[in-house]
Amino acid sequence: MTALDVTIREQRPGDGDAVLAVVLAAFADDPTVAPLDADLARRDDSHGYVAELDGAVVGHVRITGCWIDAEHALAPALVLGPLSVVPDVQGRGVGTALVARAVAESEASGAPVVVLEGDPGYYSRLGFRPAAELGIAPASPRVPAPAFQAVRFAAYEHWMRGPIVYPETFWTHDAVGLRGDTLAEVRAALGE
Ligand SMILES: CC(C)(COP(=O)(O)OP(=O)(O)OC[C@H]1O[C@@H](n2cnc3c(N)ncnc32)[C@H](O)[C@@H]1OP(=O)(O)O)[C@@H](O)C(=O)NCCC(=O)NCCS
Repeated sequence: MTALDVTIREQRPGDGDAVLAVVLAAFADDPTVAPLDADLARRDDSHGYVAELDGAVVGHVRITGCWIDAEHALAPALVLGPLSVVPDVQGRGVGTALVARAVAESEASGAPVVVLEGDPGYYSRLGFRPAAELGIAPASPRVPAPAFQAVRFAAYEHWMRGPIVYPETFWTHDAVGLRGDTLAEVRAALGE
């Protein structure tokens, strides 16, 4: 299918309801994601970007501050997610355009890396590599290793190795890694 010519722009205060609807539609099978995104949106260290098509919001991505707990120092970093595209327009390049913008903004911020938890089949096409290659570990052992991915920028330095520390919002929503049957299924699917 042909790629859609969407406009990617920064999320504005008035976008809250439209973004909520997009996240709910994309994650119809996981109603915990929309409230997580709404709480992340209240953080000063979090930025959302929306994809607009004919004036309607059809996609959304978020980047939020986190840290690498390295031996030498605590290194500020960024985490990408959630990423949401409404089902009607999935498979037409909207997710790719949103990730490209989020990665570009992450680099422009001066961060050394942007990390995420997601399907390597999707994100490896967009420049993400296993974070383990950089010596960066996930915030929980409940994140399957192949799913924990990173893009490194010019600000990255070799000592920036260690576990990622997420801000409290991810923990209050129990949104770090996977649990139970879902964790087992994803581990099996990723060949862990
Ligand atoms: C995942 C999601 C954001 C992708 O957005 P999108 O706009 O549909 O993606 P794009 O159109 O940019 O890319 C689609 C391409 O990626 C491929 N793709 C999608 N998911 C994939 C996966 N898990 N593994 C490999 N390829 C995948 C598609 O087959 C398609 O390939 P093609 O271009 O060769 O046809 C969207 O499907 C979505 O919102 N899903 C529900 C929420 C979700 O799972 N978010 C991500 C959580 S990590």
